[in-house]
Amino acid sequence: MYYSEDLIEEIRMRNDIVDVVSGYVRLQRKGATYFGLCPFHNEKSPSFSVSAGKQMYYCFGCGAGGNVFTFLMEYESLSFPEALRQLGERAGVELPKEEEISPQARREADRKSVLLEIHKETARYFYYQLKNEKDRTGWEYLAGKRQLTPATITKFGLGYSGKNSTQLYRYLRQKGYTDDLLKESGLVTIEERGAHDRFWNRVMFPIMDVRSRVIGFGGRVMGEGEPKYLNSPETKIFDKSRNLYGLNLARMSRRQNIIICEGYVDVIALHQAGFDNAVASLGTAFTGGHASLLKRYTSEVLLTYDSDGAGIKAALRAIPILKEAGLSAKVIRMKPYKDPDEFIKNLGAEEFEKRIGQARNSFLFEVDVKYKEYNMADPEQKTTFYNEIAKMLLGFPEELERNNYLEAVCREYQIPAGSLKGLVNRYAYQMTETYVKPREKKKQKKDSMEGVRQSQRLLLTWLIEDTSLFDKLKGIIGPEHFTGELYQKAAKLLFDQYEKERRVNPAKIISCYETEEEQREAASLFNTSIRREMTRKEKERALNETVKRVKAYWCEYAAGNTTELAELMEISKIKRSLDNLHISLE
Ligand code: UTP
Ligand code: MN
Repeated sequence: MYYSEDLIEEIRMRNDIVDVVSGYVRLQRKGATYFGLCPFHNEKSPSFSVSAGKQMYYCFGCGAGGNVFTFLMEYESLSFPEALRQLGERAGVELPKEEEISPQARREADRKSVLLEIHKETARYFYYQLKNEKDRTGWEYLAGKRQLTPATITKFGLGYSGKNSTQLYRYLRQKGYTDDLLKESGLVTIEERGAHDRFWNRVMFPIMDVRSRVIGFGGRVMGEGEPKYLNSPETKIFDKSRNLYGLNLARMSRRQNIIICEGYVDVIALHQAGFDNAVASLGTAFTGGHASLLKRYTSEVLLTYDSDGAGIKAALRAIPILKEAGLSAKVIRMKPYKDPDEFIKNLGAEEFEKRIGQARNSFLFEVDVKYKEYNMADPEQKTTFYNEIAKMLLGFPEELERNNYLEAVCREYQIPAGSLKGLVNRYAYQMTETYVKPREKKKQKKDSMEGVRQSQRLLLTWLIEDTSLFDKLKGIIGPEHFTGELYQKAAKLLFDQYEKERRVNPAKIISCYETEEEQREAASLFNTSIRREMTRKEKERALNETVKRVKAYWCEYAAGNTTELAELMEISKIKRSLDNLHISLE
């Protein structure tokens, strides 16, 4: 870390979070907490809370949260040192001069920021080349062939890498960057024969993170050629599975959902046509990392797939990943066009808006794909299709939901509802062992994992809100009973604070995490609540249940990690003793 912990804490304490947030969001007081409309997602009724006591904010709608530094980082898109500097100034606290920072700490922290600087410099260079009067090739391709307006080109910072294959290298060297750094940036390859630019004679698409910092590039040949798109390799600053092209813009959209497409040009064409909620995965398959990133900004995703075999496959692959992350998915039909870019060029934005309205629920899309695999004129194939559908319907554990889908499918494919229902029931019965059981089991295990995490969060929140619980839980629950690195670290810091000072300071703990992502997650640990008032008795019951759940999970976990018989016996003793555990809130 650049600055000392004490200095960070002093600046944090001198900037009351309610004051700072009030400068950006209209807050209304309700008891000890202030509420307002969340600045990080679209909403009509306030679920954004700021706690003066905890010196933290948390949104119950989108999960944004953290301390005063996190707020500024997220709201103003600042890095941690920048937020620190700004709040330092606000409170009149002097920060040490750059040269007083230890060279080693500096080098560490600087490596990433130099890579970012190189990328920014490079994006400027490519943009400048695109506007170069002497070589109009790039401009003609983007503005002419691809019909992008000058405003769009500027908005996405598009560029052109010229015909010479060492000019970027020479330019960056002349700016003072070392071979070592340039190699690490992935923009240049350095071999015995000499240094070469990765990108030349291509139109360039800078890839930005959610804070609009350039972290990589995609480059397209103008016309035919292999590979059609060349992308930056992964580097210290570029993680393909955690970034989506266009998300820096799409997250600001007023639209409620996010459109996922396959290509850079598709994203750009959609934005140009007014669909400013479009993103694309970066020449890689859609991952769970992408899904959880999206979950921060929306709850519904629209998939546009190339209407060829590969595109359908990609959609079918993405759907379960999205569902897993708790996002609902719909599929936009692009026929007869290959992708959104071509669709809009041919039929226009209004037609695309209509297709959004007609977007198909992801389950019905999956059924439709199946339907096309079979010939319904052949009785045998028809029977197989019905059976397939019955099996797919078993994926809905809730009967009501399952029946709704069953009815929808029957309506669409003119299947007598009674007979499909009969099939479903028969499968449910026949396959309890082979099909439903393993699925249910897997689901149960996952639920309980999320359940335990929820319990751990609740416990930490309660400890903060009522520190007398530390003494009541002494010898029963300690930081070691929390699972996962982030949870354990937060718990450890919290218990230490109480041990040393007899009070807790959650906002200070947030500063121990470097990225916004971690700060947000840490904030959720201290702001979990059951959204209704509880009587003392209910509270007591909830506390006991929560403690038991956390401890029981720990027992299981610890037992799985040891082969020592003595230890196993000790753990099983602890587990048995949970039956008689009772913590009283008297
Ligand atoms: P497509 O080949 O479907 O092309 O690639 P496209 O997006 O329609 O491109 P245009 O319209 O011909 O310019 C879809 C996406 O897959 C990745 C890129 O991210 C591209 O935008 N891709 C494709 C690669 O990374 N490398 C390739 O060689 C091709
Ligand atoms: Mn295309």
